[in-house]
Amino acid sequence: MSKATAPGKIILFGEHAVVYGHPALAVPVTQIQAEVRIDRIISAGIRINAPDIQRNDKLDALAPSQPLAATVRNTLTALEAGSLSGLSILIRSKIPVASGLGSGTAVSVAIIRALAKHLKKPLTDEQVSALAYKTEKLYHGTPSGIDNTVVTYARPVYFVKGRAIEILQVKKPFTIVIGDTGIPASTKEAVRDVRTQRHKNPMRYETLFSAIGSIAHTARQLIKGGMPESLGPLMNENHALLRSIKVSSPELDHLVETARAAGALGAKMSGGGRGGNMIALVQAKKAGTVAKSLKEAGAKSTIITKIT
Ligand code: PMV
Repeated sequence: MSKATAPGKIILFGEHAVVYGHPALAVPVTQIQAEVRIDRIISAGIRINAPDIQRNDKLDALAPSQPLAATVRNTLTALEAGSLSGLSILIRSKIPVASGLGSGTAVSVAIIRALAKHLKKPLTDEQVSALAYKTEKLYHGTPSGIDNTVVTYARPVYFVKGRAIEILQVKKPFTIVIGDTGIPASTKEAVRDVRTQRHKNPMRYETLFSAIGSIAHTARQLIKGGMPESLGPLMNENHALLRSIKVSSPELDHLVETARAAGALGAKMSGGGRGGNMIALVQAKKAGTVAKSLKEAGAKSTIITKIT
């Protein structure tokens, strides 16, 4: 038996603009994990069992574009084990799906690592991330690569598409409350709509993306410099810019406003938008109060996480 886990993630700053080469910041959320367990079985072939999403299939029966199947096939090819048979792959995940918390990515990373472990052929983080990126393309169409990077390295990252990744040193830990609108949202559609709008109005969109990118850049300096409490206003500004590119929603705006009114230092939507999650920066002692207010305002669930 071989096992591997991978964490969820949130984007702190820079979503959407990151697709066009601007910087973004993302952090792992270790309270929520995907876990993959591999066992030998007597029957031929490979069985993929994902009870949380009511799936139990033979690999051979799945289309090449099915993300779980593609992850397994791409990994076996990379490990030169394409003809492997007699395996069961059990996937469990506590990460809510389609909510910007990286559930699909975490499952991919855990599958890749579990298979590499099973075959005793270790992969580097870079190889794991590159394999997970192949699956991201199936989920998202034109992903920036930030999700597979932060989930693979499981550390805070400052990410610019096409550049070597930078692990962010968090000089002073800070607390984030995550609130889930409970509305599933397609990152693929949000990214596609932004692309269409950008095509119609390139100057305006480039100005907005540059502003988002410079917020991410400033946030990096504050985190490295041990001044995370100053990130609040940047979150508010980033949220306003995301509203301008039309990826927020009334439910996200409502939770963001609720968090601010409950004493958060700043708040914004996180990830693809239109639904999914929002995040709020809080003083540790206020985390419980803000989480409670979010619940009362309609959040389906909340997570309090410390960024270190
Ligand atoms: O997977 P999500 O919903 O957290 O969004 C990823 C962030 C985007 O910038 C919207 C897309 C991307 O590929 O970077």
